[in-house]
Amino acid sequence: MHNSPFTITPTGATLGAVITGLPLAQLDDAGWTSLYAAFLQYGVLLFPGQHLSKEQQSTFARRFGEPEKLSPRQRGDIVAISNRRLDGGLAQPDEYQYQILRGNEGWHTDSTYMPLASKVAMLSAVTLPPAGGETEFADMRAAWDALDKATREKLQGLSAYHSLYYSQARAGFEHKTDHLYGLHDKGAPLRPLIKVHPETGRKSIYTGRHAYGIPGLSSTASERLLDNLLETACQPPRVYTHKWQVGDLVVWDNRCLMHRARPYDAAYPRELRGTRIAGDPATELAPTYADPRAEGFKPSSSNHSILAQRKTTSGN
Ligand SMILES: [Fe+2]
Repeated sequence: MHNSPFTITPTGATLGAVITGLPLAQLDDAGWTSLYAAFLQYGVLLFPGQHLSKEQQSTFARRFGEPEKLSPRQRGDIVAISNRRLDGGLAQPDEYQYQILRGNEGWHTDSTYMPLASKVAMLSAVTLPPAGGETEFADMRAAWDALDKATREKLQGLSAYHSLYYSQARAGFEHKTDHLYGLHDKGAPLRPLIKVHPETGRKSIYTGRHAYGIPGLSSTASERLLDNLLETACQPPRVYTHKWQVGDLVVWDNRCLMHRARPYDAAYPRELRGTRIAGDPATELAPTYADPRAEGFKPSSSNHSILAQRKTTSGN
């Protein structure tokens, strides 16, 4: 049986559409082709009431490309974006898990602090707090389109380093190099501030909380420019706020928009299932340089070798 035509309802912001009438667990090739065209157009697609199993989410995610491995402990393609610890308790403020979740409340694009940035990411909702915990998306294509000529010319040719150490430090947390995802010794990737989408050809602003240190500018001037750019870019009508319901699945294009989590009371569990798709080396791989906050520097053009290297050096 073929997927029937589905309904696309734009959110009213410059990005995002709600898709109904398309059960993702039964997605066929024709349905996928139409869905992917909508994905490139809207940047973020919202699928209410899908209630996918981990396996079904994994199958859907693999339509977009190869899932990233986010942690040495990760089995399969799904990673828990959750404040529930493995022992069942809730993560506390002095714990890495809690601090990374709080850090995600700053605007960002996924994995830009790794040599190979992510191109697509998805989340599905399993357990939600009674209030807050929304996910917001901001359209960096429309933000670029809204810039005046002088600002565009100023940004053209500029790049910034990206580091999870930097972004977590600005959020008030200090992390040691421990080869966990992003807290590595591969250095800080240097990425252009303007990204051309490899499939649509549209330009967008490519920055976020991980970005710092524009070569050629003082650290103060760089921080001021990046903060202003982020603040100006993430404004209506370029922002969509997703109020989660259990069973929703949301998928977005990291190559042209930013996102952030909204705060919630950490006394309540919030459990989402995430899958990130690795970028294409031709367009999402960046050269890395020593990161002043990391111990050591071993340049690498791969996100995966950290885990292999860790296995080798730990002798098990
Ligand atoms: Fe994220």
